[in-house]
Amino acid sequence: MVTGEEDRADRAFESQLARLAGSRARTQRTVRDVSTLLDMTKAIEQLRDHHADTAIILGSGLNSLVADPKSDQIIPYAEFSEIPKPSVPGHLGRFVLGEIEKTKIIFAQGRVHLYEGHSARAVTSIVRVLAEAGIKQLIVTNAAGALNPKFKPGEWMMITDHINLTGTSPLLLWRQASSPAISDAPNFLDMTDAYSLRLREKFHTAAKKIDIVLHEGVYAGSIGPQYETPAEVRMLQKLGADAVGMSTVLEVIQARALGLEVAGFSCLTNLAAGLSKDKLSHEEVLETGKNSAAEFGRLLESTLK
Ligand code: HPA
Repeated sequence: MVTGEEDRADRAFESQLARLAGSRARTQRTVRDVSTLLDMTKAIEQLRDHHADTAIILGSGLNSLVADPKSDQIIPYAEFSEIPKPSVPGHLGRFVLGEIEKTKIIFAQGRVHLYEGHSARAVTSIVRVLAEAGIKQLIVTNAAGALNPKFKPGEWMMITDHINLTGTSPLLLWRQASSPAISDAPNFLDMTDAYSLRLREKFHTAAKKIDIVLHEGVYAGSIGPQYETPAEVRMLQKLGADAVGMSTVLEVIQARALGLEVAGFSCLTNLAAGLSKDKLSHEEVLETGKNSAAEFGRLLESTLK
């Protein structure tokens, strides 16, 4: 027979075991957190050690600008707990340490979008990591639908300004930001010269030199993921937009808040809805992007020479 005293001792022993198990689980979590932090620090150091002033975010279909990187040039986004995993075909999800005309570049192959269910903070995490890696200039590229009737699919547009139609901003939650890179970002940010005139002039001169068509215009950034209706396309044209896409505007807001100089380029992968008889598809966007990537590569080479 179990006495009352033995019963009490058993219960005390069991509760001590439960406390020990809890403390073991907490220790394991801390070890995991610390090792994630160490991996992240190592990955940032790797990016920093490349000593690049410029980074290029590559949009849909534009990955071919980076030819077969070696494994020691690749840093997966997964090394950074802040960056969500891209889920869209054509978005690889990695940084590549590269070079164009002896200029060191960090390529960001793939991005994350609002329409994947992420917040404005999350979709701009790539920009914050790049700023922490020490870059000074950010070149953003995207695939976009042409709204301007003078533009043709396959051509490029240099972005002069944007219209943020996403209804959100990466600066909304800046007081809660844990990243030191944005701790003193101004929240009433002046966006007058978001797209650097200095860089635009450089790219324009280079485009003329190698005789490629480089339009200029206003990019409208929507949430997506559905393409626009023809009525929305007519509205966007009236608003003064020349191209429409589902990215870029939040990244540029974040980049400017961090003091980065920005240039932006849209690969016009299709005429926007209702402007041609063709149906829109992501496959067509990727295909046209792939075909136009080489031309953008030549523009970069000519600009950085
Ligand atoms: N609309 C929005 N996003 C796009 C388009 C478009 O027509 N083409 C490529 N991305």
